[in-house]
Amino acid sequence: MIIVDFFVKMIVKTLLPEVELTNTQLNILEDVLAHTKRLLILAPPKWGKSYISAISGLLFAILNDNVEVVIMSNNSKQSKMVMGYIKNLIERSPLISQQYIKEHFSVPRPEFSDDKIVFKNNSKIIAAHIHDKLWKNVLYNADLLIVDESVIIDDYKYRNYVMRTVKKDGIILENGTPIMKNHFFNTYNDEDYKVYEIDYKLAVQEGRLSLKDVEKMKSLLSNTEFVKMYEVKFVDDEDALYSHESIKKAYKDYNNFKVPYKESVKMVIGVDVARFGDDSTVITVLAYSPHKDKYYIRRIKQLTKKELSSVVSNVSYIYTNYSKENMYKIVVDANGVGAGVVDMLRERGYDNVEEFYAMAKPFNKEKYENIKTEMAFILKKLLDDGKILIPKDSALIDDLINIRYDYNKYGQYRVIDREDKSPDYFDSLLIALYGFKNLLNLNENDIS
Ligand SMILES: Nc1ncnc2c1ncn2[C@@H]1O[C@H](COP(=O)(O)OP(=O)(O)OP(=O)(O)O)[C@@H](O)[C@H]1O
Ligand SMILES: [Mg+2]
Repeated sequence: MIIVDFFVKMIVKTLLPEVELTNTQLNILEDVLAHTKRLLILAPPKWGKSYISAISGLLFAILNDNVEVVIMSNNSKQSKMVMGYIKNLIERSPLISQQYIKEHFSVPRPEFSDDKIVFKNNSKIIAAHIHDKLWKNVLYNADLLIVDESVIIDDYKYRNYVMRTVKKDGIILENGTPIMKNHFFNTYNDEDYKVYEIDYKLAVQEGRLSLKDVEKMKSLLSNTEFVKMYEVKFVDDEDALYSHESIKKAYKDYNNFKVPYKESVKMVIGVDVARFGDDSTVITVLAYSPHKDKYYIRRIKQLTKKELSSVVSNVSYIYTNYSKENMYKIVVDANGVGAGVVDMLRERGYDNVEEFYAMAKPFNKEKYENIKTEMAFILKKLLDDGKILIPKDSALIDDLINIRYDYNKYGQYRVIDREDKSPDYFDSLLIALYGFKNLLNLNENDIS
């Protein structure tokens, strides 16, 4: 990376002599020029998110022939602002304006209008936005898509338009401040993205913000607003069951986690069987290492086929796969169609199949409405204590952050499923966890 660093610095020095980037900005530029496919910048207002995106777009267009750079944002003003940064950079660079631009600015030609710059190498930069009247006919095919202030773009337009304006193997560079938990939060939790998180401390250290200004903002903003905008953290909803911090810790620890060689871990296969139209069957293999005293997910498998026989053969395939290890139990959501899966597995000779009924009585009857809620709270405790490790699986994480809780009329905790879709990954994990109830020391203990 030292060599790349040196070259990129030289390129900036030659092409943009007046520009001085911070270390983080330089790293982002290096990643774009090295064709890192997915990049996300999380930073406070005025840090320079749009600025470094503009520089990355400009240099990408100059250094690669025939490429299309698309600047996408919530409205034309925003995209034109990024384009304005680019034009300003060009004007201030004698080399770029004389040698790389096909047409001079002042000539109002279609190929060099307000929204488009064409280079001699046939590359172009286009300023687009989501309110384009023609958005349904995707007009772009970007090699580099810059999504400026992505967080404020509507989820529907983001999925159905913005994500379709990039080539299959194109680069996506998104930036924003984590003020909402929408698609931007999913992106943040997406394993494919390399994430740059710049909080105010780093921004001050790099000379992009002054401590005095930050302190002034702190006195003006609510605590939550400050955490979102300057500490650059996604804030949990008040009634969210799982804190984002503990989820994040669980997947960060996951990658470094190793069970002792040849340790006989215990494993449970949890099966949440699809019931309604949009549901899917999810199988979770959850393991427990007595040596480390930790639970960890070995595998998550989603099945799109609806036939019960396919569920059964997948379970049995997974079972065989892990047969060298200590397979403890298979737990199946036995409500409705799941009962069929239980029967079929037993017919095949599995004698360690256990049934799970979400609405069944909990161990602690005073505290929880039902067993599902109780398991959900046990999962919370495990997450908060760092005793369960999960992969950075965006579907599972998306489920977890959308689970809420309240109390019923008896004052018992009640878990509330997400409303937009069935939380199949969450349910499957709870079902697997239920298989460990003897280890979890449940009985009547106070656990949350
Ligand atoms: N490395 C730098 N050197 C000098 N000026 C910079 C640098 N980075 C950013 N700037 C300047 O800081 C100002 C704010 O930058 P920019 O608009 O990119 O911030 P932002 O993070 O996108 O903020 P916002 O949240 O308001 O969109 C701009 O005037 C930009 O030119
Ligand atoms: Mg900006």
